[in-house]
Amino acid sequence: MCGIVAYKGKKNCYPILINGLKKLEYRGYDSAGIACISGKGNITISKRSGKVKQLEETLKKNNVHKKCTGTGIAHTRWATHGRPNQVNSHPHNDQSGSIVLVHNGIIENYDPIKKFLKSKNIKFKSETDTEVLVQLIGYFYNKGKLTFEQSVRAALQRVDGAYAIVVLNKNEPDKMIAARKGSPLVLGINEEEFFVGSDISPIINYTQQIIYLEESQMAIIGEKDYEIKSIEKDISLPKVVEKIDYKIDDYDKGKFKFFMHKEIHEQVDTISNTIIGRTKGHNVLLNGLMEYWSQIESASKIYITACGTSWHAGLIGKNLIERFSEVPVHVEYASEFRYNKILVDNDSVVIAISQSGETADTLAAIKKANDYGAITIGICNVPGSSISRETDCGVFTRCGHEVGVASTKAFTAQISILYLFALKLAYVKKQISKSAMKAHLDFASSVTKVKSILRKENYIKKIASKYKNASDFLYLGRGLNFPVALEGALKLKEISYIHAEGYPAAEMKHGPIALVDKNMPNVFIVPKDKTYDKIISNIEEIKSRKGKIIIITDSKEKVLKDLANDLIVVPKTNHYMFCILATIVLQLFAYYIAVGKKLNVDQPRNLAKSVTVE
Ligand code: AGP
Ligand code: GLU
Repeated sequence: MCGIVAYKGKKNCYPILINGLKKLEYRGYDSAGIACISGKGNITISKRSGKVKQLEETLKKNNVHKKCTGTGIAHTRWATHGRPNQVNSHPHNDQSGSIVLVHNGIIENYDPIKKFLKSKNIKFKSETDTEVLVQLIGYFYNKGKLTFEQSVRAALQRVDGAYAIVVLNKNEPDKMIAARKGSPLVLGINEEEFFVGSDISPIINYTQQIIYLEESQMAIIGEKDYEIKSIEKDISLPKVVEKIDYKIDDYDKGKFKFFMHKEIHEQVDTISNTIIGRTKGHNVLLNGLMEYWSQIESASKIYITACGTSWHAGLIGKNLIERFSEVPVHVEYASEFRYNKILVDNDSVVIAISQSGETADTLAAIKKANDYGAITIGICNVPGSSISRETDCGVFTRCGHEVGVASTKAFTAQISILYLFALKLAYVKKQISKSAMKAHLDFASSVTKVKSILRKENYIKKIASKYKNASDFLYLGRGLNFPVALEGALKLKEISYIHAEGYPAAEMKHGPIALVDKNMPNVFIVPKDKTYDKIISNIEEIKSRKGKIIIITDSKEKVLKDLANDLIVVPKTNHYMFCILATIVLQLFAYYIAVGKKLNVDQPRNLAKSVTVE
């Protein structure tokens, strides 16, 4: 999974490509590279391991930025096949040096093709699946019978898996070919100027004329014009140009050292921005769903599908929807949904939750749900993203860009939407009274309590510093707070590389308790609700085995003070708001542990913000 950006026009492509890569770095940051082609067909490839910033420094040092031409392709990589080193970085070229390519995706049958090409004396430089594809294009082209376009088509017809590619050929410097299957690719068109991107972010500040390439389509871009064709057959297809009225500002950390820190703080606004205008008195207004509302309302079952943090939001959504409206909800990892036998039909609603709207597994799950005739709803943060376009209807979280790889503000906004959705469904099903609705909605929009958590930041930081050298953590909660425990553990793992597990508090005694010793911190999320006394017993069970106890609670009872090594008390609120407050505490806790370990919080090792391969 990676980010691709390409430009063909009269300007120096360098600033467009390098700034585009910065916008796409959420898709991977193992290595980055750029290739430019001159009118005479000279290709210059510059690439290196590390982040886009490092590539930028190298290019500037070598003065490459001044020499870039009007046609170039660029890539920021998240390695799937082959180490994240310079040789494996994109762009890759074929043996003859004529063809150069960037690729997002996985060529699944790379091995037999590689064997075949080796038998034809083609030597490989890298360990990547991508090089197999560029060598195959080169193989067809250099046999001399096929044109550049025919060679690309012939190669694509022989590969399995997923790809978005952009290809250049030094013998036809005026042509750029882009193609996609399984991975998204977007074309931007201006007067005699063309852009290609993995999404609109590197393009939209230059042109609003956008073509979303459909499955198995290729774009053949010439000097002044372009064609959209099918990969399967050499036939021209209609050009479906959309006008996208949307600007993307440059990312800015403001006074914060890390985006994650800024994004944790932004939750004071992002939660209310997500809710504002969507409630009126005791009513919930979700305009994005209205076209399909009668089917949504009468559906016999709901599936929620997502990955990672968004999946945790889905678990909270299940709890809320079942609690209020009594419609059964199944929550499935998108990667499982797509291959398991799932009993989705045209009487089902499938909700896909995704911050980026680009997660490959979630996208594939949605396609499956569409094929089965379900109504599909997207809860996404990025307008124009693939998931928001593939779903029948949806509601956007209004968080602005989330840049930190560890998702924070998107999660609390997703919970807010699910809360509104659950209430709306319950109200039309007459499961909840007007006055209860009103009370819930007042809570949903009261974010002053979020501020009070942020005011405790130094206190949380102190606690975090005590535990930063622990090697394992348990996070324990019940009901709505079991997913909060999972999310707290995921945040810690992602950015501090400390092993952490989230468990339902009572389930801990069925196995994980064996891990507990005097070195093991156990984070308990303990609202004063119907399971309060039961959780206290669970805490006792850990305490008697000498485990360290950190408690997040809205109760001021002395028993908690006595049990806890560290106690974080959040203000009294309702169940929904409590899980948001506890989440924010856990975000700050993980953040300060990672900062204490001097780690790169925004771009943790091995991860990417959006996982655009299977
Ligand atoms: C969150 O901190 C993670 N980086 C990751 O689990 C993420 O939530 C997951 O990849 C899903 O992403 P999405 O919401 O953009 O689909
Ligand atoms: N599979 C290719 C690689 O490992 C492309 C990965 C990507 O999409 O970044 O280089």
